[in-house]
Amino acid sequence: MKNLYHLAYVSEANPLPTNKDLLAILNTARRFNAAMGITGMLLFKEGVFVQVLEGVKQQVLDLYNRIEADKRHHSLKILFNEDLKTREFSNWSMGFQNLNGLQTPNIEGINDFMNPNFSPPQLVDAPRQAYKILLHFRSMC
Ligand SMILES: Cc1cc2nc3c(=O)[nH]c(=O)nc-3n(C[C@H](O)[C@H](O)[C@H](O)COP(=O)(O)O)c2cc1C
Repeated sequence: MKNLYHLAYVSEANPLPTNKDLLAILNTARRFNAAMGITGMLLFKEGVFVQVLEGVKQQVLDLYNRIEADKRHHSLKILFNEDLKTREFSNWSMGFQNLNGLQTPNIEGINDFMNPNFSPPQLVDAPRQAYKILLHFRSMC
């Protein structure tokens, strides 16, 4: 596929979503993404979203603009955005993990994210770590 691209961001949910709210986001995401050939992964933990979107560049950017305008979260910060050779999440129109209360193995970077004191700006300063976290949870979907 030409112009393959990926973009990841971190954001803060407001108000704190219920499981039903999260399912509503996922249902929209999966329906739209499947139709547009967008794949990716959404992580949620204690009010923080981390999402990666991959697909044709213009479609990823258009979708990001729409997601950015969504009032269910705020303070979006891009973690990485660049051309991509091969999709990392080709099996998921939008994979999802709710990490609240989840125990994770002792893997560098991932433990920081699971720490209750974790704050989103930490990920902005460590985009490679963000990528590693997304890939780690891919295997758990
Ligand atoms: C954290 C989060 C992630 C989202 N991810 C997607 C997504 O991957 N695909 C999608 O179509 N909509 C996603 N949405 C929903 C969009 O922001 C938007 O509500 C939806 O695409 C409908 O757009 P419209 O209201 O402009 O019609 C997400 C919303 C939030 C809050």
